[in-house]
Amino acid sequence: MLPVILGALALLASPTTAQCDVAILQQTAVDYLTTATTGQNKLSLADSMTYTENAKSANTKSGMLSKALKISHNRTLLDTTQCATYTELIAPDNTPPYVIGTQIRLDTASGKVNKLESIITTTGDWFFDAKSTLSYSLKENRDPIPEAKRDTRAVIKAAADAYLDLFNNKSVKVPWGNPCERVEGGHYFGPDCNVGVPSGVQLVNRRYVCDETVGTCDVMLAFGGASGMPDSHEFRIEGGKIRLVHTITAGKM
Ligand SMILES: *[C@@H]1O[C@H](CO)[C@@H](O)[C@H](O)[C@H]1NC(C)=O
Ligand SMILES: *[C@@H]1O[C@H](CO)[C@@H](O)[C@H](O)[C@H]1NC(C)=O
Repeated sequence: MLPVILGALALLASPTTAQCDVAILQQTAVDYLTTATTGQNKLSLADSMTYTENAKSANTKSGMLSKALKISHNRTLLDTTQCATYTELIAPDNTPPYVIGTQIRLDTASGKVNKLESIITTTGDWFFDAKSTLSYSLKENRDPIPEAKRDTRAVIKAAADAYLDLFNNKSVKVPWGNPCERVEGGHYFGPDCNVGVPSGVQLVNRRYVCDETVGTCDVMLAFGGASGMPDSHEFRIEGGKIRLVHTITAGKM
């Protein structure tokens, strides 16, 4: 009788979101950073997890997770709705230098990582310059947005999508901020982000990690159709308007 009662109590006590409070996501981010700096995996990986580097299936034991990196800057988004994190790593002093964006998704039942995707860029990739990425990043305001001023997840995501849709549809209305600053690889565009946006380019297979507390969504995608370049576009939205964009693109235009 007793095990049955205990089982029922456990069910009552663990709603499906219990594994996804902020603390678990914060710990995941810390474990990912430890992994990246030591090359020793600290993350709890599900047996059936998906691991990709630049949209290709990769090995957790021989891939980037096994390399100890000298990291100068990191910044993380926590998505409690999807139980996911996004971390940007900037490593200009590593040999070779890297800028890496990583989305991590947890299984809510076990709290284990069931998907980890990294976009990894280095010398030769589109506008790659980790030193300038770092110096522009350090000037940005990434403070939490006061609760009363926070945009909803739907507003943040719609702004990100409008920007991404513009590449294939010039009629889309994008909520441009003023100023709006874009760090594309290591190249700076500002105070207007509506420059150098090509047309006829499909940005597809979008995967989102959104954190309303900082008004930010990271979107991983294929740049230029399904077999396009592996890419991350991250947007900071304030008062419904796009203020900051970071892009990490593996490959050359
Ligand atoms: C990540 O960034 C935080 C500050 O935002 C810093 O305290 C921490 O040391 C950094 N971690 C690594 C591994 O660089
Ligand atoms: C382009 O965007 C406009 C404005 O949002 C929309 O009405 C139209 O359906 C879009 N066209 C295509 C082909 O998606």
